[in-house]
Amino acid sequence: MGDPTEPLLGRAALVTGAARGQGRAHAVRLAELGADLIIADVCAPISPTVTYPAPTADDLAETARLVEATGRKVLSRVVDIRDLAAQQQLVADGVALFGRLDVLVANAGILSWGRLWELSEEHWDRVVEVNLSGTWRTVRAAVPAMIEAGNGGSIIIVSSSAGLKATPGNGHYAAAKHGLVALTNTLALEAGEYGIRVNSIHPYSVDTPMIQPDAMLELFGKHPSFLHSFPPVPLKLASDGQSGFMPAEDVAEVVGWLAGPGSGPLTGLQIPVDGGALKY
Ligand SMILES: NC(=O)c1ccc[n+]([C@@H]2O[C@H](COP(=O)([O-])OP(=O)(O)OC[C@H]3O[C@@H](n4cnc5c(N)ncnc54)[C@H](O)[C@@H]3O)[C@@H](O)[C@H]2O)c1
Repeated sequence: MGDPTEPLLGRAALVTGAARGQGRAHAVRLAELGADLIIADVCAPISPTVTYPAPTADDLAETARLVEATGRKVLSRVVDIRDLAAQQQLVADGVALFGRLDVLVANAGILSWGRLWELSEEHWDRVVEVNLSGTWRTVRAAVPAMIEAGNGGSIIIVSSSAGLKATPGNGHYAAAKHGLVALTNTLALEAGEYGIRVNSIHPYSVDTPMIQPDAMLELFGKHPSFLHSFPPVPLKLASDGQSGFMPAEDVAEVVGWLAGPGSGPLTGLQIPVDGGALKY
């Protein structure tokens, strides 16, 4: 029986969008649980329609440093998840280094704002291209290597509360994140025979640069009825009672549990990580 404090010892995990925010927290948590890490991020602006700042290669290097500080190994690379060939090369290099691939956290994503009939094609295309099609390309690159390694595994698809309910002001984002539910559940059926589990998580209001209170307040100022779709989190979190936003590390705890043996029989599930907000 393995060390219960390091249930992922000897395993390898790939995390996309790992330069900062939730992706960094997931990488560090999986390393704490014993896994060696393959981390990727585009580390550059995707589109002028995305109005919060992008991370840099230094941010990704800092994630790599934090992983190494746990004592685990890391393969770190600037990769755009819209690029299938680059992700296939990254996976091949990771498997050459670590001998296997057990865990995938498909986390990279972008957000922009606008009502559906006012969005530009640039708004729509970039969000769908990254959040839905890019995530499929990550899956396309990783799953054959996981099957080839023959050890089963766990895939965590990072959707959103907007993947389970309507969110006025970002319908393109919600459409892409709802699409990830279909991807997750189809993949759970298809990969099950290889011992690979697939679940989606649906975070809400996590404290990262993606959350722009000013943009949201401007939207709610123009359309006060939209406010009802973005309720306060009912649960007072032990980790942060101050900001009202959930720390990324809380989401990473759930990801670590989904990656490991403790969640062994679970697949094809949608798991809200929302402090109860979806119940409003
Ligand atoms: N923050 C929230 O409240 C919240 C809520 C629900 C879901 N999410 C989802 O969680 C995930 C992580 O977001 P976050 O909150 O940490 O925001 P973030 O902006 O800090 O992190 C997203 C990361 O993905 C990277 N990325 C974007 N496009 C990429 C691409 N094409 N290729 C590779 N990397 C790319 C970014 O560079 C960034 O480092 C996203 O999928 C997001 O949609 C966030």
